[in-house]
Amino acid sequence: MSTEPDTSALDTPVSEAATGAVDPRRVAQFREQRFGLFVHWGLYSLPARHEWVKNRERLTDAAYQPYFDHFDPDLYDPRVWAAEAAAAGMRYAVLTTKHHEGFALWDSALTDYRATNTPAGRDLVGPFVEAFRERGLGVGFYHSLIDWHHPDFPVDGVHPQRDLSDAEVGALNEGRDVGRYADYLHGQVEELLTRYGAVDTVWFDFSYEDGVHQFTRRWPGKGAAAWRSRELLALVRRLQPGVLVNDRLAIPGDFTTPEQYQPYGPMSLDGRPVLWEACQTINGSWGYDRDNLDAKPVDLLVRMLVDTVSKDGNLLLNVGPNARGELDPQALESLRGIGEWMRLHGRSIHGAGPSAFTAPTDVRYTQRGNRLYVHCFAWPFGHLHLPGLAGKVAYAQLLNDGSEIAREELGSGPGQNTRPGGVPPGTLSLLLPVRAPRVAVPVIELFLHDGAAPGSAEHTGPAPTDPSPESRGTPRA
Ligand code: GLC
Repeated sequence: MSTEPDTSALDTPVSEAATGAVDPRRVAQFREQRFGLFVHWGLYSLPARHEWVKNRERLTDAAYQPYFDHFDPDLYDPRVWAAEAAAAGMRYAVLTTKHHEGFALWDSALTDYRATNTPAGRDLVGPFVEAFRERGLGVGFYHSLIDWHHPDFPVDGVHPQRDLSDAEVGALNEGRDVGRYADYLHGQVEELLTRYGAVDTVWFDFSYEDGVHQFTRRWPGKGAAAWRSRELLALVRRLQPGVLVNDRLAIPGDFTTPEQYQPYGPMSLDGRPVLWEACQTINGSWGYDRDNLDAKPVDLLVRMLVDTVSKDGNLLLNVGPNARGELDPQALESLRGIGEWMRLHGRSIHGAGPSAFTAPTDVRYTQRGNRLYVHCFAWPFGHLHLPGLAGKVAYAQLLNDGSEIAREELGSGPGQNTRPGGVPPGTLSLLLPVRAPRVAVPVIELFLHDGAAPGSAEHTGPAPTDPSPESRGTPRA
């Protein structure tokens, strides 16, 4: 049986943003930001072999205890993380306050299984929030619904002890009360949302309801009933009125969360566009994974970011800091490589969104007002033909150095010798230099004539359509 987390069946409906039930200012901000940092950090950074290590290796609490006893991130300085994120062009960050292992990174009054009781000896969430806020970055909290340590969380198909005999699991589950666990879950969420000021995003993870998920083959799953999701969502909205909540509570959320894949196109539900955020790893693991050699090259990470924005999504790119609290050299190299590209091309990403023009093969468009950004995933020889753009472009330049790009309308007549022809009417052809600029993804910035754009980021996408107070689920600040 596969021990990999499989979230393929978790496409729960997302509707609050589409129906205008969430704060439209926060929705607009989210779509403007486009790029964020996901941080998976917990006890699993010590074994350094994936954040699911306790599950994969069927470790008992006793076998996992050494990681608690030796958690001593003496080099933890979230100001460094925030500086790296900002330099990479990221606009927000989401931290795992508690992952499935159950360990609280803050000084929770509801458990002893918390950072303050390890050699770390301090709250690790507060300094994170402060550091990212200081840099002007948004802050979100990931919080695991699943808990492999809490004594009231019944052993089930996602639990490390799932392969014990029925009798053994029965004995372990004796006296466990999922209702009490839900109280604890709600209580910890309340702590997190009342201690650290405004929180922009709450990122719950995850539900696996009966009949929907592979984890429920042998043991019952858990979802909206177990977590008391509606009550939990109401609590979150009451404590943090401006917040966006993801879609993993098994009830409608504000944005959907494709994980480790790039969606085919803009995401929708019942024909309505929905907010979405792709979460992606550098190397396939969320937690620090020392021996992992699968790091995606920088140009692929940049293409993923561009592809996401061209489809009206956000990208949440993950790092897994190590046990001493530092970003490893590979993560730094990846972030800095993206940052070098973002330094020159950030304006094709922030505040940009999909275009109503159709991009040719190997090109992704993003658009921001009357600027159309042509991202070249491959570099053709000589001409780049852009359908439907003839007569619509006032000026064109390479974005990396501001050098002019010449344009032609070649026409559909026959070509001869060095004169090209056979180009469909309405096509604008750009004349590219032979050598691509030395950047991960070359971008040509087109300045469209006024009124030439059939659509732009401001006019497409899932922004709430009806901002009247009575159309909103909860009063907003
Ligand atoms: C998954 C995994 C997890 C990771 C997360 C990120 O559901 O269980 O380890 O934190 O998704 O999206």
